[in-house]
Amino acid sequence: MMGALGGSSLRVAVGVTGGIAAYKAVSVIRSLVLLGHHVDVIATGAALRFVGAPTFEAISGNPVRTDLYENVDTVQHVALGQSADVIAVVPATANTLAKLATGMADDLLTNTVLASLAPVVVAPAMHTEMWQNPATQANARRLDERGVTFVGPESGRLTGSDEGPGRLAEPEEIVNAIVSAARRGQRERLAAERGRDLVGHTVLVTAGGTREPIDPVRFLGNRSSGRQGVAIARKAAERGAEVTLVAANIEVPTPEDVRVVLVSSAEQMAAACAELAPRQDAIVMAAAVADYRPEHVQAGKIKKEATGDDLTLTFKKNPDILKNMVAARVPGQTIIGFAAETEEDDEARLELGRAKIRRKGCDFLVLNRVGWHHGFARDETAIQILDLDGHVVSEAVGDKMSVADSILDLVHEHE
Ligand code: CTP
Repeated sequence: MMGALGGSSLRVAVGVTGGIAAYKAVSVIRSLVLLGHHVDVIATGAALRFVGAPTFEAISGNPVRTDLYENVDTVQHVALGQSADVIAVVPATANTLAKLATGMADDLLTNTVLASLAPVVVAPAMHTEMWQNPATQANARRLDERGVTFVGPESGRLTGSDEGPGRLAEPEEIVNAIVSAARRGQRERLAAERGRDLVGHTVLVTAGGTREPIDPVRFLGNRSSGRQGVAIARKAAERGAEVTLVAANIEVPTPEDVRVVLVSSAEQMAAACAELAPRQDAIVMAAAVADYRPEHVQAGKIKKEATGDDLTLTFKKNPDILKNMVAARVPGQTIIGFAAETEEDDEARLELGRAKIRRKGCDFLVLNRVGWHHGFARDETAIQILDLDGHVVSEAVGDKMSVADSILDLVHEHE
């Protein structure tokens, strides 16, 4: 399964209606195509009086659809509406807004919108008087209340010498709105499909970064904030699992419907996990665990008068908790490890991941890139998930909550 939330190609239906701003729809379509998306243009008859079908066909690389009564055997409006990740109307005339608001369907575009569950984005363009007319304003309000996304109109110079609100938004802004509405729609659809698919599962999640004490006031730590692990725990609980979170020094609030066990050092985390593991259907080891700890923890604060210019600490290896979990695995348990690597080259990073999953022996390894400016204390992340054979079984890009869902999909599938 490839993660559906990644930067995957979208199917965008762009409806073009009859206004002078129809020529600007061409740049919107071109940008979408350059971003790698599939675009089907649905032009009204009036739109084709402003821009010819060959232009739309050349730019989109697909035939322009305009006539409800063409290809009736393929039920075009239903097919286009159902396959689209998003429907955008650029430009949207006052007439089209009125039809969409009342649910009228007298051409291919309005039929497609009615027959679709995809998010709808409209970019109105018309004369100021038409936009400000109470009828148009009421229609826009109705559509907004129904969840239709509006981009613009902007204020500025209109076709004639007049100025005011009614100008089509900038193509770049329209493209951004289309892509984010489509991604939001995909996330909502996936969430609805996932529902409470983890009911009856027990899931243990580790989060945060361990701290290894040096003396009563100092420790060795790392930059992990715990965001990703906490997001996984929260999502697992939302999807119905009974979740225990072993949290080491996390910087984010813990979810209410999750049992939290607070630890600080790797040894404490190892002890907590060893006790909890036998009762878990899945173990997700998102914590950054220190590989070494100072061999001797000083009873009192280390004073520089006593140590002089150089201070040498000796370290002892910490238990490898993940390896221990794999060694003590109960039948049917899914174990997921994490690897945060600074390697910049994608292929070399994958190789490090492959070597790591072989060393650890877990079912899946979540690989992400970290560095001075990557990964920590941020909400955006990008991951690849490897299986024990070293294959990339899933990829996800997005906030840590949506990435958490992609990770939990594997828990659901691997039973
Ligand atoms: N891990 C663990 N116990 C440790 C170290 C790591 O359980 N003592 C777990 C982490 O929670 C993570 C996975 O092992 O899920 C990989 O952690 P990482 O630090 O990348 O692995 P190491 O084996 O320590 O490899 P490296 O030499 O790259 O640090």
